[in-house]
Amino acid sequence: MAQSGFIYKNIQIYRLCMNLLYKGRYQERFEVISRLIKGTKVTELCFGDTIIARYCRKNNISWKGYDTNDAFVNEAKAQNYNAEMSDINDIESFEKADTCIMSGSLYHFHNSLEEIIKKMLDCAPHVIISEPILNLSASRGIIGKLAKGAANVNGGEHGFRFTEESFLREVIKASKKLNFTFKVSEYHSKDIIIEISK
Ligand SMILES: C[S@@+](CC[C@H](N)C(=O)[O-])C[C@H]1O[C@@H](n2cnc3c(N)ncnc32)[C@H](O)[C@@H]1O
Repeated sequence: MAQSGFIYKNIQIYRLCMNLLYKGRYQERFEVISRLIKGTKVTELCFGDTIIARYCRKNNISWKGYDTNDAFVNEAKAQNYNAEMSDINDIESFEKADTCIMSGSLYHFHNSLEEIIKKMLDCAPHVIISEPILNLSASRGIIGKLAKGAANVNGGEHGFRFTEESFLREVIKASKKLNFTFKVSEYHSKDIIIEISK
């Protein structure tokens, strides 16, 4: 994997930073997402952490995760999770599932949003996207620094972030083109969580 920010070097550092950014509610966000899972097979894109994978294991749900970060993928594999180190832009079709999840990562694909959602809907009839709609990069002090660090993935500065307005505008646009319906299921911390179905 290309060089990423220090936040992505190992999962403990990542969790610590995310807990600061999510004001202690980082883990809770995954619990909210997990409660929305349907069926017995989950595919998670850009998984980063294994909190959803752990929920799946506990509940006899099979889980497959994709991420480009070797540190995160190796950590997941060490716990015997079915993790694959791949750039999801390069994968034509993801492993079929009942639910396909992406959290905190859609901004990486804002230029190919329709393409990614289409691949998620080809993967599963039920799609969950949790996306931050509050950009903390401009904040002062440690929070601003952490938010900027989190933006540095694969050697690129991904300064782009959605607002609620731009996120919903792009999802509505995609829904008309790809013919899907969606609902806003939750607002949690700085994320909006939507469920999409065909
Ligand atoms: C901000 S983290 C979010 C991680 C986790 N889902 C969460 O909600 O905390 C973004 C994740 O996307 C992964 N990622 C970024 N671009 C990717 C790509 N093109 N293919 C696969 N994974 C990617 C990064 O390695 C990182 O683990």
